Amino acid sequence: MTQSPGQGQALDNLLTESRTFPPSAEFAAQANARPELYEEAKADREAFWAKQAERLHWETKWDQVLDWSNAPFAKWFVGGKLNVAYNCVDRHVESGHGDQVAIHWEGEPGDSRAITYAELQREVSKAANALASLGIGAEDRVAIYMPMIPEAIFAMLACARVGALHNVVFGGFSAEALRTRIQDSACRLVITTDGQYRRGTPAPLKPAVDEAVAGAPSVEKVLVVKRTDTEVAWTDKDVWWHELVDSQPDQHTPEAFDSEHPLFILYTSGTTGKPKGILHTSGGYLTQTSYTHHNVFDLKPDTDVYWCTADIGWVTGHSYIVYGPLSNRVTQVVYEGTPNTPHEGRHWEIVQKYGVSIYYTAPTLIRTFMKWGADIPAKYDLSSLRVLGSVGEPINPEAWIWYRENVGGGKAPIVDTWWQTETGAIMISPLPGVVSTKPGSAQRPLPGIGAKVVNDEGVEVEHGGGGYLVLDEPWPSMLRGIWGDEERYRDTYWSRFGEQGFYFAGDGAKYDDDGDIWLLGRVDDVMNVSGHRISTTEVESALVSHPTVAEAAVVGASDATTGQGIVAFVILRGGAGDDAGGAEAIKALRDHVAKEIGPIAKPRQIMVVPELPKTRSGKIMRRLLRDVAENRAVGDVTTLADSSVMDLISAGLQSDK
Ligand code: WTA
Repeated sequence: MTQSPGQGQALDNLLTESRTFPPSAEFAAQANARPELYEEAKADREAFWAKQAERLHWETKWDQVLDWSNAPFAKWFVGGKLNVAYNCVDRHVESGHGDQVAIHWEGEPGDSRAITYAELQREVSKAANALASLGIGAEDRVAIYMPMIPEAIFAMLACARVGALHNVVFGGFSAEALRTRIQDSACRLVITTDGQYRRGTPAPLKPAVDEAVAGAPSVEKVLVVKRTDTEVAWTDKDVWWHELVDSQPDQHTPEAFDSEHPLFILYTSGTTGKPKGILHTSGGYLTQTSYTHHNVFDLKPDTDVYWCTADIGWVTGHSYIVYGPLSNRVTQVVYEGTPNTPHEGRHWEIVQKYGVSIYYTAPTLIRTFMKWGADIPAKYDLSSLRVLGSVGEPINPEAWIWYRENVGGGKAPIVDTWWQTETGAIMISPLPGVVSTKPGSAQRPLPGIGAKVVNDEGVEVEHGGGGYLVLDEPWPSMLRGIWGDEERYRDTYWSRFGEQGFYFAGDGAKYDDDGDIWLLGRVDDVMNVSGHRISTTEVESALVSHPTVAEAAVVGASDATTGQGIVAFVILRGGAGDDAGGAEAIKALRDHVAKEIGPIAKPRQIMVVPELPKTRSGKIMRRLLRDVAENRAVGDVTTLADSSVMDLISAGLQSDK
């Protein structure tokens, strides 16, 4: 069995990794991307993007490509009008592809459904009519809290069709996390299911909605899809999807909206306890998701079968399951469940069943597959795979090579794609068929994108040097702000390198000797656990909201499978019960975090300590706690207000063992 190394070791390897894999002549000859794209974009960036926007159907053409006069608030394709859902659905039917399968949906218990573009058009139209019948229209906000079932995609596209903003909340988030996300954007409608399948068993989902809605007065109706047939409590706000949607006419005339009409809000963790509602708009977002999906994944709509394993609760699901792929007339697999239900070969079984040719996943899952063993994918016919993608965190070269050998048959190009919820679409990635790939490096900004590695002063570092990743040109799918908080938008992204006008991504990066970019992880208090962004402050606030906790500090410690694991240090209140610090008390705290945020935020480890290391100004020195969490000798303690604190912590932990 292959073991993946810890992140520290992976980083060392990463800095000495020098293998490259040139594209085969055969792949290069048929590739969508061409080397000239880089030159074209450099010669005239705006003309380049205007050309990409022509991939879409515009009801009214724009009269200005970019208006950056009110930076950092961009307007792209100013004056243009389009309907995003029409672009993802109807125009494919109108061009004679109504019988093409859009979605091969695979349910966790083994049920499946093939949905053609013609059927998708009918389903989305019915859902749009249902939204209209509930009085939902342009600019209204709709929360979607659902498992990976076709109705989740119908619901998103129906919102886009009527001009409402969807606010998709990952189905693994708690009622409390759902409530704050509904309230912050004052959603009028919530779309959910009775339950969801998780690892082979139905689990209720609607009770969390009931709890959230009880504390969110903006919600007028809750539309409920029956998925697991779980019995649910019913309130006068609730409406069954099958009663309302199924009785609607299956035709709906889409209205064209302004290019800058808001499309969705998606909450993501920042460095404070409050998640940020990232706002995306229509024309620029769809242009860049469509362009990147076409070139980075080399999609051939007539022959490829594409599969992105993300959940629609994250931005990857928005941009690379819904908008990019469907705008390109994809045939794709959507899978509801977990990768080891009912067995560890489930993904490969699905690849074989549908002849998947493009597969896009996260490094944490690749490392999990490595742990399960190469003999599992070897049992299936994976010869249809021709492009592999990675997203969400740096991929260590060992995992990259394993992926290439054991999934890609030693030949499929791997695209390591760097981007964020805020960037809306892929920004840095090799172009398959054009660029020789390098294990562990996302390599270079896509044509039309400006990215640099700079030092503290905002000066670009030399080849071989490291610093911060910045984006130095506005891009079409960039966020248009944080919902309801202009100040925070400016502060978070545009103040760090305000003088230079750079967007600060929050990631560390370096150039290798060829000038290729290697991402090195977050430089702020955001953790990356299995590719999910979780802020240390958010978990700390959850912990201190428990009656037994006086103070808490949270760090992300290297984890061989999940990238980072959450490690919490807590000070308990005096006399916090007989079992203070015992297994029961720790379990109660972990469960409390799951209840406050969601199971994905449960600390891997909680250590009870007598003190926390703080500077004279009271700032917690997480660096020292990280040393403890990663079992290293504790670093420089001279800036601590009380330098004996670390001895106290270490001594306490020793005696626990
Ligand atoms: C990290 C996910 C290295 C990075 C699309 C970024 C990556 C954060 C990569 C955004 C990659 C994403 N290599 N790191 N290929 N892709 N990241 O908003 O730290 O969930 O800032 O968007 O994930 O996470 P988000």
